[in-house]
Amino acid sequence: MRILIASSIAPEAVAQLRMHHDVVCAFNASEDKLKTLGHDREVLICRSGVTISAAVLAGAPALKLIIRAGSGTDNIDLNYVRQHGIQLERIPEPGAKAVAELAFALMLALARNLLYADQALRQGHFAKHELNGYLLRGKVLGIIGAGNIGSLVGEMGAAWGMKVLGCVENPAPAVATELAQKQIRLTDCREVIAKADFLSVHVPLTAATRNMINAAVLSQMKPGSYLINMARGGVVDEQALYQALTEKKTVRGAALDVHQVEREGHISPLASLPNVILTPHIGAQTIDSQREIGGRIVEIMDSFAAYAISTERNFAVAAPRLYPGRPGVAWRGSDSFADYPQTIEMNLAAVKCIAF
Ligand code: MLT
Repeated sequence: MRILIASSIAPEAVAQLRMHHDVVCAFNASEDKLKTLGHDREVLICRSGVTISAAVLAGAPALKLIIRAGSGTDNIDLNYVRQHGIQLERIPEPGAKAVAELAFALMLALARNLLYADQALRQGHFAKHELNGYLLRGKVLGIIGAGNIGSLVGEMGAAWGMKVLGCVENPAPAVATELAQKQIRLTDCREVIAKADFLSVHVPLTAATRNMINAAVLSQMKPGSYLINMARGGVVDEQALYQALTEKKTVRGAALDVHQVEREGHISPLASLPNVILTPHIGAQTIDSQREIGGRIVEIMDSFAAYAISTERNFAVAAPRLYPGRPGVAWRGSDSFADYPQTIEMNLAAVKCIAF
């Protein structure tokens, strides 16, 4: 099949795909370049960092399948995808493990002031007595969006001896039980925000979640608390966060892996604050996770190609079902606690769920 790989994925996966398919790679290319390269492509593989707009999709009339090599779909025009019967497959689990681990690296770095400790010592300053940090054990970990990633962070928090509170939008009855099994108490977002010593955000970016962590929310956070954003830059109002971190009435420090502006050369105003840690959207960026994602991409492509050939299926229908239950393909990956998404509509419903 004819594939366009629009983001960097594991090189082993690219090599394997090349063995059976016609592969073009253009990582994080411009809209114009994607429109040109996409004209005859049947499959598009992407991560965050590239915008798959309606114009890009319109420039790819043969497109049948988008493989989102990760979790978020905020960079893809989902209305176009639905209207044109393009299949969308996400691979959220491998990255979730890496994101959850990084959340703990950031929490510990904030709680123990590790960046300052390292910088001071490199300059010959032995700052031991300035560095009275905090334990994670016994603290309240609040999870905004206790879905695929958020509940993993919560589960790990419980293992660290933290008390874990989580919220999701419109939780189904089973969600409270599933979370309780992971020692996460489901409650409303207000309680999570007010009680958390460490507030970790794990929601997808949608119209509803854009700037959800705004001045009002920041003013409700516990004095001396920390904010961790591993979701999407647009979810946190960075100007309001700057203000809150300067005033230090509520939130004491913040760690952001995702940013309103993510591009080479940009320096966030938050970079001027000592109580902030900034990382360049590396949550899912472990060799292990990317290898696993690469393996899943190859499996999906094998199945998709075999299915397309064996059924000579006409994909150009308005709302196709996802091709169900074929062996070898792990369809688990809904970001809600719902069962496998079986139709594009259900996929979109899952995307709307306020939890990665
Ligand atoms: C994701 O949504 O999976 C992450 O942001 C990682 C990525 O796509 O680079």
